[in-house]
Amino acid sequence: MAKPPANTSPLDPIVSLCKKRGFVYPASEIYGGINGFWDYGPLGVLLKNNIRDHWWRCMVECPPIGPDGVPLQIVGLDSSIIQNPKTWEASGHVGGFSDPMVDCTESKRRYRADHLFLATAFANDGTEIGTFSTLCEGDEAVDDLIRRAKKASKGKSLDDTAIRAETVLCYVDIARDLQEKVIGPDASKPGTLTKPREFNLMFQTYVGAIQSDDAKAYLRPETAQGIFLNYKNVVDTTRVKMPFGIAQVGKSFRNEVTPRNFIFRSREFEQMELEWFCDPDESGKWYDFWKQARMDWWLSLGVDPDNLIFRDHEDDELSHYSNMTVDIEYKYPFTAPEYGELEGIAHRGCFDLTQHQEHSGAKMEYFDQEKQLRLKDEGASPEEVKEKSRYIPNVIEPASGLTRAVLVVLCEAYTVDPDRPSGVYMKFKPKFAPIKAGIFPLVNKDGMPEKATEIYRELREVMTCEYDPKQSIGKRYARMDEIGAPFCVTVDGDTATDDSVTVRHRDDQSQERVKVAELKAYLLERLAD
Ligand code: GAP
Repeated sequence: MAKPPANTSPLDPIVSLCKKRGFVYPASEIYGGINGFWDYGPLGVLLKNNIRDHWWRCMVECPPIGPDGVPLQIVGLDSSIIQNPKTWEASGHVGGFSDPMVDCTESKRRYRADHLFLATAFANDGTEIGTFSTLCEGDEAVDDLIRRAKKASKGKSLDDTAIRAETVLCYVDIARDLQEKVIGPDASKPGTLTKPREFNLMFQTYVGAIQSDDAKAYLRPETAQGIFLNYKNVVDTTRVKMPFGIAQVGKSFRNEVTPRNFIFRSREFEQMELEWFCDPDESGKWYDFWKQARMDWWLSLGVDPDNLIFRDHEDDELSHYSNMTVDIEYKYPFTAPEYGELEGIAHRGCFDLTQHQEHSGAKMEYFDQEKQLRLKDEGASPEEVKEKSRYIPNVIEPASGLTRAVLVVLCEAYTVDPDRPSGVYMKFKPKFAPIKAGIFPLVNKDGMPEKATEIYRELREVMTCEYDPKQSIGKRYARMDEIGAPFCVTVDGDTATDDSVTVRHRDDQSQERVKVAELKAYLLERLAD
């Protein structure tokens, strides 16, 4: 295996197009940026909102029909980012949401220890000498790190996790208590690296004027807990009955140690999470249902089925709350030919509600009257009826990243085509394209700008479109290709006589004449799905 080239990523062309065309900018760029934070530009926010709206529509407004042919009940929620800090004690995030880290006392840099296991170690002359995990094999002190590394390595490529070979070798030594001999990757002398220790990923802040321990609070690391905190409110104030779901889209924050791969892993990101509450006796059925329903959703975004796989978690990589988890993984440019995590569908059992019941004292039990009647009808014993009709629901949780979905849609759309002037075009599924059409006068005379403006005014009432009278028509097509507009509409010399325009199709660059009177319906039909 060749040593990976330093400082390049297969994502680079996408990152640079995103900057050039206003999809995603580095946050605080004029101050040199801030690692792990990104801003969504004019096109990026449109794309992100399109994906978010599609998720919301498919989950809350028009949820799928259930496995028994019964329509699902799912309600929405928008909970606070900051909650009572006891929330995170109950959820396990205060005690357990951490990564093993190593600090360098000289460079003041911090490295994530478990990722190092994935890296291939190269000697100084570039020859491969083994992986960190094999070098450490049999060393009891690193067992826990190996377990974490196995979890992190699933579907991830070297590129996601690779670090300098010297670092790998440093950690072999650290793990063997030989750190005094080791020079850290950014240090000038040996002995500056600490042993691995746990580092909590939650961002802390203070609520109120006094910055004391009592005022400490956290930015949420997942939207899910806001849902669990409101489970009882929703049951008590709405007509939902078991099974039902609560969905939420919103920002989450994790002080990731190694934010990387553009918006794949950032410190501020958005999640789209559904908590599906159900009778524990039916949780297996719902787990299978959501697994398939979520894969179907990703396909509905226009993602190539060959780029998506399911990957079941092995027992030793399950989160503390989960009995069963399957990931939907995507073949990212930086993981290919392997896959990396996109969404997790977790069977959380009754873990969260039980934890919140114990920590808050609020009763989370659900009385299932329909089940009670059914069991009685089926002739169950009074004890069985009593025992089975009151329960703390189980939860199936399809949890995905909205900003990660944006990355997938960008990667999927990015299409190299040396035969067109832009050299590349963004093949968004028309429904999700941030800009649906460019409207151009062929030249800026003979009434063409006036006619094109009139068409633009009419179309912008029903779709995002841009009027562009500047530069040659070829350059305007090239720009629209780069921003992924599926249609370009050109008013030319014939428009005045035949009352038609030329519609150019982004993907095959074909052109056809369409009557101005039929244009709106023509485009809307092609944007519908
Ligand atoms: N409530 C469960 C939960 O949060 P998770 O696997 O930690 O589970 C769910 O996160 C999804 O959120 C991930 O599959 C990923 O798409 C997204 N996600 C997690 N951490 C992220 C990060 N640092 N940057 C971008 N997206 C992230």
